[in-house]
Amino acid sequence: MGTPLPADPPPYYATHVFVCTNRRPDGHPKGSCAARGSERLRDYMKARAKEMGLVGIRINSAGCLDRCEDGPCLVAYPEGVWYRAETTADIDRILTEHLRDGGRAAGLGLPGRG
Ligand code: FES
Repeated sequence: MGTPLPADPPPYYATHVFVCTNRRPDGHPKGSCAARGSERLRDYMKARAKEMGLVGIRINSAGCLDRCEDGPCLVAYPEGVWYRAETTADIDRILTEHLRDGGRAAGLGLPGRG
């Protein structure tokens, strides 16, 4: 991950979350996050973040993030922390423990590369 340079402007968002909502045809061997419910989870996450009054947070839909077998997955930047969120309870934990409190939602994180 790149290192910010002194002349860079400050980040526009404190945390920018990308939720994969890619959908493949039924029966595709990789499956897809949308087929595992990610669109509903994205909608829930956006609504809950607003209800919680989180500021400086942006939650966006994303195309395939190429971790299909690990989905439904999302990633939060600038930290570059990945999560597998299967339920609204998982989303609540990510919102509370990571986005609000600045920690990590233990047990939901996906491993980094290599
Ligand atoms: S379908 Fe979500 S990472 Fe590929």
